[in-house]
Amino acid sequence: MNEQHREGESLIFGRRTTTPTPAPAARLVGLGSYLPPQKVSNADLALRLDTTDEWIRTRIGIAQRHIADPATATSDLAVEAGLRAMKSAQVEHVDAVILATATPDHHVPGTAPLVAHLLGLRHVPAFDLGAGCSGFVYATTVAAGLIQARTASTVLVIGAEKMSAVIDPDDRSTAPIFGDGAGAVVLTAGHADEPGTLGPAAWGSDGEHADAIYIPDGGSRRPPCATDDLKNRYVHMEGNEVFRHAVRRIAHVTQESAAAAGWSIQDIDKLIVHQANARISAAVANTLGIPPQRVPSNITHVGNTSAASIPLLLSHSAIDKQLEARQRVLVTSFGAGFTWAATTLLWPSGLQALN
Ligand code: UT7
Repeated sequence: MNEQHREGESLIFGRRTTTPTPAPAARLVGLGSYLPPQKVSNADLALRLDTTDEWIRTRIGIAQRHIADPATATSDLAVEAGLRAMKSAQVEHVDAVILATATPDHHVPGTAPLVAHLLGLRHVPAFDLGAGCSGFVYATTVAAGLIQARTASTVLVIGAEKMSAVIDPDDRSTAPIFGDGAGAVVLTAGHADEPGTLGPAAWGSDGEHADAIYIPDGGSRRPPCATDDLKNRYVHMEGNEVFRHAVRRIAHVTQESAAAAGWSIQDIDKLIVHQANARISAAVANTLGIPPQRVPSNITHVGNTSAASIPLLLSHSAIDKQLEARQRVLVTSFGAGFTWAATTLLWPSGLQALN
């Protein structure tokens, strides 16, 4: 246990039992991301699928995606992103690890304890969080709650996905969309008025649409069996239905989050939208009246990386200098479940994102 952790403990126990102080707020102090090296272009996909580069570019906005090799699991991607976020934050220890993923290494156990172990974070609490493409914003919301309650003073939140493991390579309605990757942040206890501090979260779900994006077989509803149609082990998606709900829900949760922070929509300097489809982001911006130059995007190069999408976009936008100190940033997402979540922050100065 290093000095930093001892400081964390005295913060938790000392303050709680003696001097009452305002509840801490979760502050962003580290940011990192990782993409596996192999790129698959639209032209590569068109060699085996009935599709074209033009269709994928115009209907989804994607030119390529990164795909992990067969020996790489979600935990491997998560560790790479976690290492970069901790280096960015200049910390060697955290009090908890939350891994947002829809593609854990195994059904049992959760993947986060292995990730914590591989990061050398001996015995810290670590758990997976499954909320589809909203998973990362759900996870930062939970982490912020842990920090506010003084249960933890520093939390590593990772979004990591090996989507290629659950996408049917022969399904042209899903294979062009998804990619693999990971991103991570370190959140630490700060004051509510400091730049980098997360604002209140707006979040929700609607299980009525649980089968709009789902994997039919392999869970407790339909356990794996020798006679299974293997296609049912892959993601099935009602693309049009998801598209319609995504635009409506993202626009609405964005408004809720801005209102909770006391911002108008015009106050938003940068809208970080889950990278599901470039047309979804454009429709959300159009609905809200936000100019396209305030809506950064990396979907062209990375595709839809589910729970990894938001931290990857934060990291790439920070490195590209699209996120600048004290800009008002609103982060917003939608995914399987359905789930949705959004939060706000003033971009901190001096944050070095690492890819
Ligand atoms: O991350 C959160 C979860 N995911 C999402 O948010 C994804 C939301 N949905 C979407 O992004 C879009 O609905 C898709 C990209 C999945 C599909 O795009 P679309 O514009 O909604 O296409 P569509 O399903 O309405 O299909 C239009 C046409 C159809 O042909 P016909 O019936 O008009 O002759 C499809 O068969 O495009 C055809 N099509 C394709 N053609 C070439 C569907 N996929 C392809 C393809 N290449 N890959």
